[in-house]
Amino acid sequence: MYPLRSLILAAAGNQTIRHMVGSAPVSRDVVRRYVAGETTADAVAVTGRLVAAGLTVTLDYLGEDTTDTALAERTVQAYLELLDALEARGLAERAEVSVKLSAVGQLLDERLALDNAGRICAAAQRCGTTVTLDMEDHTTTDSTLRVLGELRTRWPWVGAVLQAYLRRTLDDCDRLATAGSRVRLCKGAYAEPPDVAFADAHEVDLSYVRCAMALLGGDGFPMFATHDPRLVRLLGERAGEYGRKPGSFEFQMLYGIRPEEQLRLAQVGHTVRVYVPYGGEWYGYLMRRLAERPANLAFFLRSLATRG
Ligand code: FDA
Repeated sequence: MYPLRSLILAAAGNQTIRHMVGSAPVSRDVVRRYVAGETTADAVAVTGRLVAAGLTVTLDYLGEDTTDTALAERTVQAYLELLDALEARGLAERAEVSVKLSAVGQLLDERLALDNAGRICAAAQRCGTTVTLDMEDHTTTDSTLRVLGELRTRWPWVGAVLQAYLRRTLDDCDRLATAGSRVRLCKGAYAEPPDVAFADAHEVDLSYVRCAMALLGGDGFPMFATHDPRLVRLLGERAGEYGRKPGSFEFQMLYGIRPEEQLRLAQVGHTVRVYVPYGGEWYGYLMRRLAERPANLAFFLRSLATRG
C-alpha cells in the first residue's frame, strides 16, 4: 500500500483528527461531493435523479463498527424506512441497498447481524429489490461470507462483495461464481497487512483481472466496481469474449466519482449502478475516498486552510 494512503487511513482512526475534521464546517462541501445528504429524503431525491438519467443505484446508510445494540437497531430502521420510501416513489426496481454487517451488530454478535440483515432482506423482497453485503476489513471476511451463505438460503439474490487486494479472493470468486450469485468485485479500501493482501497497486490490478475472469467465466452475475479506466475498457472487451451480453453483468461506481463515465457507459448499453451513501456518519467513508486519491486530499486541506 502507498505510504500516503496508509497514513490517511491511520489518521482516520485517530480520535483527535476525527473530531477536528468532523466538526469543520467546510467538511460539508467535500462531503456533499460524495454523500447524498443526511436524510432518507435526500437519498431518495438523489436516487430519483440518477434513475432518471438511466442509471441504477445501490444505497448505503452510513455507519460502521457499531458496538451498541440500539445503534444497530437504528440502522435497521433507517433501511426499512428507505426501502418503503423507494417503493412509494416507484424506484425500488432500479435501486437496491448495500449493508455493512458491522453497522447492524457484527462486532457484538454474528447472530445479531444475521437477524438484522435478514429483516432488511425481507423488506427488500417485499419491495421487489435486492441487498448487497459490503465487505469490510479482512478480520470480518469469513464471518461476512458465513452470514451471506445463511441469508442466501432464504434470499438467493443477496449480493456479496469480494476485494481483489486480498490474496484469498481468487478462491472466493471460484466458490461464489455459481448460478444466481451476485458478486461485486472491488479492489479493496482498508489498510491490510501484507500477509493477507497485495501491497503493490500493480499486483492488485493483476489480481482484479484474474478474479474478474473467474467471475465472467462462471455462472453468476458479476458486478464490476471500479473507476479504473483501463479495467473498465478491458472488462467491456473481455465480457463479449466470454459470451456475456449487456444485462448479464454490470459496472458499479461511487456517487461523485467519474459521473460522466457512468453516463457514457449507460448510454452505450451497459447497466451502471451508482453506490450512493447517505446519513450523518460519513467520516470513515470520506477518509477512505481521500486515501484513494491524493488530489482530493489536497483539495480538502486547501479548503480547511482557506475557510477553517
Ligand atoms: P483506483 O483507486 O486505482 O483508481 C483508478 C482511477 O479511478 C483513478 O486513476 C481515478 O481516475 C479514478 N478514481 C478513483 N478514486 C477516485 C476518487 N476518490 N476521486 C476521483 N477519481 C477517482 N471497498 C471495500 O473494501 N468494500 C466494499 O464493500 C466496497 N464497495 C464498493 C462499491 C462500489 C460500487 C465501488 C465503486 C467501490 C467499492 N469499494 C469497496 C471501494 C473499492 O475497494 C476501491 O477502494 C475504490 O473503488 C477505488 O478503487 P478503483 O477500482 O476505482 O481504482
